[in-house]
Amino acid sequence: MKKIGLFYGPLGGSTERVAKKVAAALGTDHVDLIPAKESKAADVEKYENVIYGMSTIGKETWDADKPANDWDVFLPEVEKVDYSNKVIAMFGLGDQITYDLHFVDALGVVAERILPKGANIIGKVETEGYDFRESQALIDGKFIGLPVNEDFEPELTDERVNNWIDKIKGEFK
Ligand SMILES: Cc1cc2nc3c(=O)[nH]c(=O)nc-3n(C[C@H](O)[C@H](O)[C@H](O)COP(=O)(O)O)c2cc1C
Repeated sequence: MKKIGLFYGPLGGSTERVAKKVAAALGTDHVDLIPAKESKAADVEKYENVIYGMSTIGKETWDADKPANDWDVFLPEVEKVDYSNKVIAMFGLGDQITYDLHFVDALGVVAERILPKGANIIGKVETEGYDFRESQALIDGKFIGLPVNEDFEPELTDERVNNWIDKIKGEFK
């Protein structure tokens, strides 16, 4: 397997913790962990295998005038990437108890920017086991990436991450 570039943000919280779990599940030698906010499209283009890791911090943040978080800064770069010949997987931190109408929406926001550019997104996840009402991350009835809830279901994270990686690791180049 060629090296995977795992671009993630924000730093210092649940997203970073889960990024490290994803890297450990793949074998840390196979993964470069890279902060999203410091990255440009050219950094992503160095990799044929890419994982995007993010959290959802509400619609008001996405709609804000000025860049407020790591992914607001990184998203315009993500849109510039040439996705031909790349495999992409995504995971998203969220909380379906407090935000049951916007569960892991960020996954959907990113997917809708890169799917029209031909991105081959692997690792869709069934909704079974997630109790929520609405999510922008659903495409054809499945989550477009792995949802993780470290706020209320941290005991499920390791199993969710490991099952997901087991399913997708053979699909990386
Ligand atoms: C202001 C705020 C807004 C949030 N909005 C959402 C949301 O719309 N949907 C969701 O699934 N989670 C939402 N969350 C939950 C976060 O995604 C969750 O706490 C996540 O683990 C944070 O990751 P971090 O520690 O890496 O920042 C929100 C959290 C905060 C503090």
